[in-house]
Amino acid sequence: MDRNIRTVEDVLGLLDRLFAPEADRWTATGADWWDDFYGDRSRPVPFFAHKPDENLASYLDRGLIAPERVLDLGCGPGRNALHLASPGRLVDAVDLSPKAVEWAGERAREAGADVRFHCGDAFAPATTGLDGPYDLVYDSGCFHHLPPHRRISYLALLDRVLAPGGHFALTCFAAGAMGSELPDEAFYRDSRLHGGLAYTPESLRRIFSGLTEVELRRMRDEPPGSPYFGEPFLWTALFRRDA
Ligand SMILES: C[S@@+](CC[C@H](N)C(=O)[O-])C[C@H]1O[C@@H](n2cnc3c(N)ncnc32)[C@H](O)[C@@H]1O
Repeated sequence: MDRNIRTVEDVLGLLDRLFAPEADRWTATGADWWDDFYGDRSRPVPFFAHKPDENLASYLDRGLIAPERVLDLGCGPGRNALHLASPGRLVDAVDLSPKAVEWAGERAREAGADVRFHCGDAFAPATTGLDGPYDLVYDSGCFHHLPPHRRISYLALLDRVLAPGGHFALTCFAAGAMGSELPDEAFYRDSRLHGGLAYTPESLRRIFSGLTEVELRRMRDEPPGSPYFGEPFLWTALFRRDA
């Protein structure tokens, strides 16, 4: 017999383990699931297309953000990190899945783009190299794959690495359009996340209430020929940390 709970991190790990192993998409164990997911690049997954999010392009075009140091959280095959890469800008990008990071690295080499890709759990204290401070933390589609208790790790990461005056931008499943609307406690009862969590604007505002909202809207639906990725079942949110 042992009594292993001593720190908040121990409690968060215990809550992770309440989920069925095959339901894990957010810890180092979940990397295998994502590796399978990225294994066949020819599958018609909308975000496999090498196009940046329309909202990200629009923040840059409108001058809402002009970052010098960026972190792409859960970068997948790197489409947004690569859009952000430009001379004089330092871009870090992290993902759990070695296959995703490999794909992203290939895309970067093809484009001659300078992005530092990291493979690992962005929220684990042991993951090094993501020290910031960043003046943009960008997340397209990672947050809604986290169980409720990992919001604590997520907010702690933002607190640690987001520079004063910096921006945090998020795209995530919109309640009523995509994702599970079960209450938080149901995920622990069912020991699975049912494909990801839906969020309302109010829930996002409450969770990120330590930041100032700049813009929160649905992602635009981009036609197949568009140079941008856009799916209207997602929220896009831009927040700023007070200087
Ligand atoms: C829906 S995919 C989005 C990928 C990419 N952002 C895009 O839009 O093309 C979510 C990504 O989050 C990554 N992810 C999930 N939990 C993570 C964690 N704890 N640390 C780093 N990446 C994580 C997964 O490996 C996956 O590639």
